[in-house]
Amino acid sequence: MSDTQVLIFDTTLRDGEQSPGATMTHDEKLEIASMLDDMGVDIIEAGFPIASEGDFAAVSEIAKNSVNSRICGLARANFADIDRCWEAVKHAKQNRIHTFIGTSPLHRAIPNLTMDEMADKIHQTVTHARNLCDNVQWSPMDATRTEWDYLCRVIEIAIKAGASTINIPDTVGYTAPAESADLIKRLIDTVPGADEVIFATHCHNDLGMATANSLAAVAGGARQIECTINGLGERAGNTALEEVVMALKTRHDIMPWTTGIDTTKIMAISRRVSTVSGFLVQPNKAIVGKNAFAHESGIHQDGMLKNRENFEIMRPEDVGLSGTSLPLGKHSGRAALRDKLEQLGFEVGDNQLKDIFVRFKELADRKKEVFDDDIIALVRADSGEDEDDRLQLVSMKVVCGTGGPAESTIEMEVDGKDITATAEGDGPVDASFKAIREIHPNAARLQLYQVSAVTEGTDAQATVSVRLEEDGVIATGQSANTDTVVASAKAYIHALNRLLVRRDKVGEGADAKEVSYKDLA
Ligand code: KIV
Ligand code: ZN
Repeated sequence: MSDTQVLIFDTTLRDGEQSPGATMTHDEKLEIASMLDDMGVDIIEAGFPIASEGDFAAVSEIAKNSVNSRICGLARANFADIDRCWEAVKHAKQNRIHTFIGTSPLHRAIPNLTMDEMADKIHQTVTHARNLCDNVQWSPMDATRTEWDYLCRVIEIAIKAGASTINIPDTVGYTAPAESADLIKRLIDTVPGADEVIFATHCHNDLGMATANSLAAVAGGARQIECTINGLGERAGNTALEEVVMALKTRHDIMPWTTGIDTTKIMAISRRVSTVSGFLVQPNKAIVGKNAFAHESGIHQDGMLKNRENFEIMRPEDVGLSGTSLPLGKHSGRAALRDKLEQLGFEVGDNQLKDIFVRFKELADRKKEVFDDDIIALVRADSGEDEDDRLQLVSMKVVCGTGGPAESTIEMEVDGKDITATAEGDGPVDASFKAIREIHPNAARLQLYQVSAVTEGTDAQATVSVRLEEDGVIATGQSANTDTVVASAKAYIHALNRLLVRRDKVGEGADAKEVSYKDLA
């Protein structure tokens, strides 16, 4: 590794996926891992193997399928966690155990350990991890609020016990850029053995400074950035991969460090993570937001026509956006659709293309011009329905008036049986959800219902995201349609299908209650 290389450690599948509502299915995790591997991520934190049977299975499978990336699993500071983690990551060509403990006064109080007892535990657990795996990362959780002397002491212990990466988490997003750079620099200058290991930075975005703090840490000497796609993560999220990578690429003049990321793969993975996690990307989000490369105001358009560099510091192509975006129409054929999908960064198999093409034709019949965003929504919707789903929408009819309740009649197939129900509600969506609940009674609580228009105009498609929670299990569903009520019903049914899958897994022996990495007992 050269002096100027910065390793990218992606934790979308661990810190990102643990954020409430972002739960992904097993297959989705494998798909995201393969995209991360393909785009040049150095280390993929694939999950927290002891958390559940599902996490263990996903990390093991990701480890088996990995090509270039190192596969890492998370473990708390105890032998059972570390053993389980090793059992999952050992299948990878390159693996890593990441073990951690909260070292700040607040976090030390949770397991009720004295400073000496905790130091001893760190020595034992890192030694144990190192006996299993030759690549161990250690993190003092809440490092940025840990007493300086104690932080130096425990890092020295972890290095002596064999950790080759020391991660400095800003667990609660508390630090600021100058402090972040200074902390890493002082640690490297002070702790014996620090120059033999790689220092990593792991920032949360509570004050909106995660990207700045991570880059500052690199300036201070960190050579690994921990991040997630779209900044997915609990609360305000983690450092966004696309932001740190593009900042290093675009401002190489003042930040002379490089990453191994193929930036042209950024948009495709951003869209996929948004779809499978159900977390929509805000339109003005840096790098991957819908408006990040849109220049709509007159002055900007004029300037852009004269010289793109007037308002563009990065080229859209560099992040995987196609330069031109000619809309498709009802005469466009399958080859044109495949071409467009490729330009948009989607790799679809022949069967998926067939399904998307059918939907595309239906849409093109209703809508004169089918824009890039419509196509993206079609791919999202395609991932939202499966012919193996136990619940299928067959048809629906909604009657709304100005004076009274709306009425919805829904016909569904439930495990192959045709059932119809009619319900009244406070508006067409409420009535439709009630009818669906009559057909498939359930106690799932609606945590989120979100509608967004994909393109402009009254014939625009709406994308709907629905998040449900039942007995601590969370599932999200999405759909897109030119009819918002149809998209809503489909998204609701999609989420219910995903809840059923998760419940079936529990029935097959997976843990009903998952352990969080914050359960420190
Ligand atoms: O934010 C944090 O402290 C973490 C640790 C488990 C590294 O995610
Ligand atoms: Zn974290």
